[in-house]
Amino acid sequence: MKEVSSDFVREEFIEFFKSKKHSQIQPASLIPENDPTVLFTTAGMHPLVPFLLGEKHPQGKRLCNFQKCIRTQDIEEVGDAWHLTFFEMLGNWSIGDYFKKEAIEFSFKFLTGKKKGLGLPVEMLAVTCFIGDKDCPKDNEAAKVWKKLGIPAHKIAFLPKAQNWWGPAGLTGPCGPDSEMFYYVGKEKPLKKSNPGTDEKDWCEIWNDVFMQYNKTNEGKFEELRQKNVDTGMGLERTTAVLNGFSSAFETDLLKPIFDQAASLTKLQPEIPEVQKSLRIITDHLRAATFILGDEKGISPSNVDQGYVLRRLIRRAIRHARLIGIEENFTVRVAQKVVERFKGIYPELDKNHQRIFEELDREETRFKQTLEKGIHLAEKEFSALQKGETVPAKIVFDLYQSFGFPLEMTEELAREKRLEIDVKGFESLLLEHQELSRKGAEQKFKGGLSDHSESTTALHTATHLLNEALRRIVDQNIFQKGSNITAERLRFDFPLDRKLTAEEIKKVEDLVNQKISEGLTVEIEVMGVEKAKAAGAQGVFDAKYSDSVKVYTVLNSETQEVFSREICGGPHVKSLKELGKFRILKEESSAAGIRRIKAVLEK
Ligand code: ALA
Repeated sequence: MKEVSSDFVREEFIEFFKSKKHSQIQPASLIPENDPTVLFTTAGMHPLVPFLLGEKHPQGKRLCNFQKCIRTQDIEEVGDAWHLTFFEMLGNWSIGDYFKKEAIEFSFKFLTGKKKGLGLPVEMLAVTCFIGDKDCPKDNEAAKVWKKLGIPAHKIAFLPKAQNWWGPAGLTGPCGPDSEMFYYVGKEKPLKKSNPGTDEKDWCEIWNDVFMQYNKTNEGKFEELRQKNVDTGMGLERTTAVLNGFSSAFETDLLKPIFDQAASLTKLQPEIPEVQKSLRIITDHLRAATFILGDEKGISPSNVDQGYVLRRLIRRAIRHARLIGIEENFTVRVAQKVVERFKGIYPELDKNHQRIFEELDREETRFKQTLEKGIHLAEKEFSALQKGETVPAKIVFDLYQSFGFPLEMTEELAREKRLEIDVKGFESLLLEHQELSRKGAEQKFKGGLSDHSESTTALHTATHLLNEALRRIVDQNIFQKGSNITAERLRFDFPLDRKLTAEEIKKVEDLVNQKISEGLTVEIEVMGVEKAKAAGAQGVFDAKYSDSVKVYTVLNSETQEVFSREICGGPHVKSLKELGKFRILKEESSAAGIRRIKAVLEK
């Protein structure tokens, strides 16, 4: 049988939905535009949030696209047949147009249609639907549509929120029950007896239809949206794989050329399970790194935010290359294959290829210098411990601080030796360290040596004050839609369907300046997402990224009266006394229903 290409799947999908009156929208950047608390675009719906909440989309109510996505919550699973940190998602959306029945019918037609569609056999498919709970009833309606289309009852599993609910992408926003489609890839139970609800390993999830009918509020309530939406996402790598009968995503034309390039650099047989696993990790991670570096936003490896994820991906790939005997610098050779393979669809890769290669090579050289020493230290420390014992936080922190070992890498090394890691202890050492280096910076600040990072820190704190002042003076529902800070000014985007009056601007400025003159204190606490929400913290945060978040509270340290509380990565000043005078330079429209404020702190 001739191999079906991924290009065919991508094009067929877009053509299918265009024929159903959907407009194709441009893929967005991997770095979300309006959401500084979510590091990467994890799904095609990210850029569509305002429209799912009721804004009018200029291209209409039916949309479709293909979107590059990064998800790192399953990074530990990469190396198996199906998990990836970078993938392409094919999506179709109804923005208050069609709903459940049509969405499921479209999905079914595209999956099984022989003329227009992929022609997958119905008997190899199974689906899951939402089982129901206090927030939302059982989705019998979706199940009924599936049955009518020919999916037998024993191939329909009902599952709870953990599996069959999608969103919000942050802490608040559009979400709803979903219905997921699976293809049989099983070895354990025969197809007839297997079901994705009970035999997870037998089934590969290929598509998700989300029925976005709720808005999750700050209080954690699920409010019915006036507008019923559909948000779907199909994994291009997985779908192409099952369509060709492959037993892993790495056999598809999206990953195989890159895997083969990596395999050509080792003398070991790629069929050996451990070698295969390392090659898959190298392939996935360097493909993701190439796309992040090639994105127009210009991310570089660093110790914060997207830069840290990028660093982790590159360093983990390098460590696995070491495991299979690749000693020379090799990341550029793999990245060249990625650029060559994808530049036709993602021209930014070609445009930025020089930057991609330079950054990779620099990071590789930098990391290798310390890797040897770090591994040596880790092995020495680990050898003093017995199986099942815990590696003290201090050692984990030393490896992080002095040898640039991401936490995950130390965890992985420890796991190989059957040791545990004191993650909590590591996190508090890290926090302490950050606090100390901030104190150092403040000292310098007082001495008049204000530099870039100090002024951005101050502006960052001012952003929290502005957000809260807007909520108190203009509208309680205001929240941060976007933020951008340079050494000179802050920029803050928030939803509002009108211009602010001159009087409101003045009042907002006055309130911020009043709080500054009161010399309020900024406190930081690390807590679980749920606890942060219960404490009324503002902000969006994808709970999947991490269980604990940093919460910054601006308060009067004597009366303990709270002015603002936000989930945020920091850093912030310790006392508002350091801020100077707050002034709004400009208030203007940034997009439909979104206002933008530019403001400065004057000394
Ligand atoms: N946003 C949904 C998902 O990512 C479609 O699964």
